[in-house]
Amino acid sequence: MTYRLKIRRFDGVRAFWQTFALDGGGGLTVARALELLNERPCLTDERGQEAAPIAWDCACLEKKCGACAMVIGGKPRLACAVPLRDAADRDGCVTLEPLKKFPCIRDLQVDRRRLTDTLTEMELWLEQAAETREETRQLHYRAASCLLCGLCLEVCPQFSGKGAFGGAAPAIAAFDVYDHAQPGAHRDAVARQYRRRFYDGCAKSLACQDVCPVKIPIERLLVKTTAAAVWKRNRKERK
Ligand code: SF4
Ligand code: FES
Repeated sequence: MTYRLKIRRFDGVRAFWQTFALDGGGGLTVARALELLNERPCLTDERGQEAAPIAWDCACLEKKCGACAMVIGGKPRLACAVPLRDAADRDGCVTLEPLKKFPCIRDLQVDRRRLTDTLTEMELWLEQAAETREETRQLHYRAASCLLCGLCLEVCPQFSGKGAFGGAAPAIAAFDVYDHAQPGAHRDAVARQYRRRFYDGCAKSLACQDVCPVKIPIERLLVKTTAAAVWKRNRKERK
C-alpha cells in the first residue's frame, strides 16, 4: 500500500506542509517511515520537488526514551510506537506535526528544555539517601519510568509552557522525591513547589493519564503526593 506522509515542516523561518509518498506495509512504524524517507539518496515530495531531510528526534526506537514524541494524526504519540496503519486516515494519509506546547527547532524537533528546567526549579533532587518504604515501592518504580516525553503536557488544558504551572511530569517526579526524602528544609521546599507549580493550577482533567505511553498511574501518584505534601497526611512525622 502507498501511504502519504503529510509533514508540517519548519526551516527556522517559515512553516509549510510537504507530502511524501511511501510504499510499505502498514506495520511499519511512523519512526521507521521517517527513517526510510531520509535514507533516500535524493528526497523528493509527491510532486517531485527536492526536499531537505526531515528533522526529527529519536534514540531508542523502542518506546523507552521519549525523544520521538510528536503529533500523529492529530494525537500526541511516540513515533516508534505507532504503525502507519493506525495513524492513517481512510485515504492512507498520515499527518505529522511537532508538539505544539514547546518551541519548534526544525520540522518535528522541539525544544523541551522547559520541562527539564521545571524539574530543577522545583528542587526535585534527593539530598540524603532515599528512605525506601514497602508500601510505595511499586509506585516509585512506576514514577521512575517517566520518559519526560512531554505528551502529558501537550494534552494538558492548563499547561501553556509560559506560566508557573509545570504539569504532570514534574508532579510525578515530586512524588518520587517527596516520598523518599527525609524530613527537613529541602522536603518542605519540594512541598511548597509542588503546591505552587502543580496543585494550585491543576484542573484535574487527567488527560495526562490517558495519553501517557508508559501508563503511569498519574492519578494515584498525584492523590498520594497531594495528601502528603499539601494536606500533611500519611506520614506520622508530618504535623
Ligand atoms: S508522565 Fe507519561 S506522558 Fe508525561 S512525560 Fe512522563 S512518560 Fe511522558
Ligand atoms: S525513539 Fe525512543 S521512545 Fe521513540
